[in-house]
Amino acid sequence: MTTTRVRKAILPVAGLGTRVLPAVKAIPKEMLPIVDRPVIEYAVDEAREAGIEEFIFVTARGKASIEDHFDRAPALEATLEGRGRKAELESVRNSTLTDGNVTFTRQHTPRGLGHAVWCARHAVGDEPFGVILPDDLIQAPRPCLGQLIEAYERVGGNVVAAVDVPREHTNRYGVLDVTSDDGRLAAAKGMVEKPDPEHAPSTLSIIGRYVLDPAVMRQLDRQAPGRGDEIQLTDAIAATIGDVPLHGLRFDGRRFDCGNKAGYVEAILAFALEHPETADATRALLQTYAARRAS
Ligand code: G1P
Repeated sequence: MTTTRVRKAILPVAGLGTRVLPAVKAIPKEMLPIVDRPVIEYAVDEAREAGIEEFIFVTARGKASIEDHFDRAPALEATLEGRGRKAELESVRNSTLTDGNVTFTRQHTPRGLGHAVWCARHAVGDEPFGVILPDDLIQAPRPCLGQLIEAYERVGGNVVAAVDVPREHTNRYGVLDVTSDDGRLAAAKGMVEKPDPEHAPSTLSIIGRYVLDPAVMRQLDRQAPGRGDEIQLTDAIAATIGDVPLHGLRFDGRRFDCGNKAGYVEAILAFALEHPETADATRALLQTYAARRAS
């Protein structure tokens, strides 16, 4: 299928993070560290590995340190260079985004995820785009957004990352109304934001990765508020079904919800177990704590 290349990604980072207070009272929740990188850097690295060239952050008051994090740090770099700290210097340089390939725009009022995405409309223009919700941290053999882009190149339209959740959890997610399903890719005829378990059309739920057709941005221009009186991205995507197809992709990988305490702790453990500098020590620690609990 002929599709337009996905070059741009929106990273909505305007949210408050009330589930991890007081840790995020004075810093953005996206700057919480997972081993040695802030949560937001994992999202940016995933997008880069998926071939994204332009990064559009939708920020808010109090989020300026995200902007600083992806900027050059001349004094720090000079000090590290002078001391011969090559690995650290490389890690600092790796978190710098290329001049002109990064845009920061603000969402002035918290009116929902759909509204945050709409705030990036001028930077995106009339082309397909990715969306990454950084709270959903994904550990995967291939970048999750890249898996979505591959699926999009086959089927076009809108493709969202999806997982099967227990029915009692459907009220935490956007949920797909599935028409056909090959076990990996599911076609949908509708999508509902956070339905009660008894009304959920399925248990196949959206995780924070999307490849979206420009029709969704046009729909957001006129999207009325939905659940919680917020402008829902889910509603705008659902409204384009019929004009463009919608598919949910069961991606390869594991997702951690860093917006809540237990998910954040699990993400730290999972990434510490993969990191060359911390893997052995973390494994040993886990064994020690498991033995202590058993005794
Ligand atoms: C948002 C979306 C929801 C999606 C979820 C994934 O909800 O509105 O459709 O399933 O992200 O994490 P939030 O978690 O921001 O309330």
